[in-house]
Amino acid sequence: MRQVARRHRVLTAMAAGLLAVTGATTVLRTTEAMALENGAARTPPMGWNSWNTFGCNINETLIRQMADAMVSSGMRDAGYQYVVVDDCWMNPNRDSAGNLQGDPSRFPSGMKALGDYIHARGLKFGIYQGPLTKTCAQYFNSYPGSTGAQGHEAQDARQFAAWGVDYLKYDWCSPSGTIDDQVRVFNLMRDALAATGRPIVYSINSNSVHSKTGPQRDWGDVANMWRTTEDITNTWNSGQTNGYPMGIQNIVDVTVPLAGRAKPGAFNDMDMLEVGRGGMTDTEMRSHFALWAVMASPLIAGNDLRTMTAATQTILKNANLIGISQDPLARQAGQVSFDGTRRVLAKRLANGDVAVALFNQGSAATTISTTASAIGLSGGSFTLRDAWTDAVSTTSGGISASVPGHGTVVYRVSGGSGTPTPTPTGPSPTPTPTPTTSTPPPTGACQVTYAITSQWPSGFQGDVTIRNTGTTPVNGWTLRWSFANGQQLNQAWGATYAQSGAQVTATNVAYNGSIAPGGTATFGFIASQSGSNTAPTAFTLNDQACGRA
Ligand code: GLA
Repeated sequence: MRQVARRHRVLTAMAAGLLAVTGATTVLRTTEAMALENGAARTPPMGWNSWNTFGCNINETLIRQMADAMVSSGMRDAGYQYVVVDDCWMNPNRDSAGNLQGDPSRFPSGMKALGDYIHARGLKFGIYQGPLTKTCAQYFNSYPGSTGAQGHEAQDARQFAAWGVDYLKYDWCSPSGTIDDQVRVFNLMRDALAATGRPIVYSINSNSVHSKTGPQRDWGDVANMWRTTEDITNTWNSGQTNGYPMGIQNIVDVTVPLAGRAKPGAFNDMDMLEVGRGGMTDTEMRSHFALWAVMASPLIAGNDLRTMTAATQTILKNANLIGISQDPLARQAGQVSFDGTRRVLAKRLANGDVAVALFNQGSAATTISTTASAIGLSGGSFTLRDAWTDAVSTTSGGISASVPGHGTVVYRVSGGSGTPTPTPTGPSPTPTPTPTTSTPPPTGACQVTYAITSQWPSGFQGDVTIRNTGTTPVNGWTLRWSFANGQQLNQAWGATYAQSGAQVTATNVAYNGSIAPGGTATFGFIASQSGSNTAPTAFTLNDQACGRA
């Protein structure tokens, strides 16, 4: 309600011609042609954000409790990483040197200490700021001060890096500025973050209190993720096409046509999840999560992690859907067919499989059908794994399900005459716990492909594929290697990691836990380096020597 009232005030302000992207225009540079190569967010970021449930009512105790709950609930091990402190964390006044500070009464230990607490739990630290003079809560007068980054971009970026920030949400929140102004101003912070040398996920929102520019261009040169719509709310359909507030169906409608823009490091952001916040049926919540996963949106939970029901956990920790979301190919599902009610979306995956979503936009149950050839597979025999039930079935090409109103059935389709994918070897039903026992393959029954996908002066990014060349499944894996020249891992996806001296240890996460005979597991990482980036040596899989491809 409060937010609706605020939006109303905005429209009034816009009509009154409230303007001024002052200051920024004098220091603008034209950098649109540059691609964003910051090495971050190679797959859609996963985490939690304070705004949807708590708004401005946040403090360091709450955020610490949420980090603890992220670990104790198994969310971290399921793949969730970033703990993002949204608006209202800041002291309304910068210090005498112009530095941002945490609010002294609600964040008395300071933001660096909060970042340390989050990092100590194997999680990453996210924070919120606005590019103009005010954050959104300051703009709406629900929070005092005027601490936006305008004129302080480099200083704020350095401050965030010094606090250990790994993710910045940067929110326009002004009726002012053309889309070109927005690009230039967002690029100031893009470049300021790059200049810190710290890999920081750059998340922007150009839409708030503004005409909706999020869908109007491909922002992949500017940011790692960009909001496509106005703010989400916990309702299925708000009747908006792109106004405040947006329901699940409305966000899907806007974002489906933007599928071609998603790639490693660049994702359409369909806004933070409403799963577990009420306002929708269990079927609708499941649909919401499934669609965000196949559409490669960041998966940023917005519920209270301390009090999640079993039903909420079943959705948020669904290992099949998280595996599809975090697939290293990083595609967004494209539309295969749509008759106004029955929508079929398909997402190609790195191992040749295709995830297909059968989404029923109507309110009555209906049968939705497609075919293997319609989703880009050829051949005569396919395996379908239902992401919700984990049931496996076979087909010669027809793909079909009875789908309840507002429901989404997702199949992972394997097989065909391309590179045959082995039948999945039956991880336990979702949520899948991280396997604790392992079946090591015999010596030499694995092969590692190690590829550096980008490199910059102080660091590099790598992709690692482990192939099980043996005849028995590997249930739970640990890959070790040695870095000869002081390289240091500081981020990974698709695996958890630790490093002791030169020795790196990467271990599966739940959705990437089993490698069938002939199958692969893939993960990525970012590392810092000084000196030359000498190739790693001595790969072992579950303590057995492993060859290099
Ligand atoms: C805007 C954003 C929200 C949230 C608030 C904070 O409305 O879209 O996600 O960050 O600002 O004030």
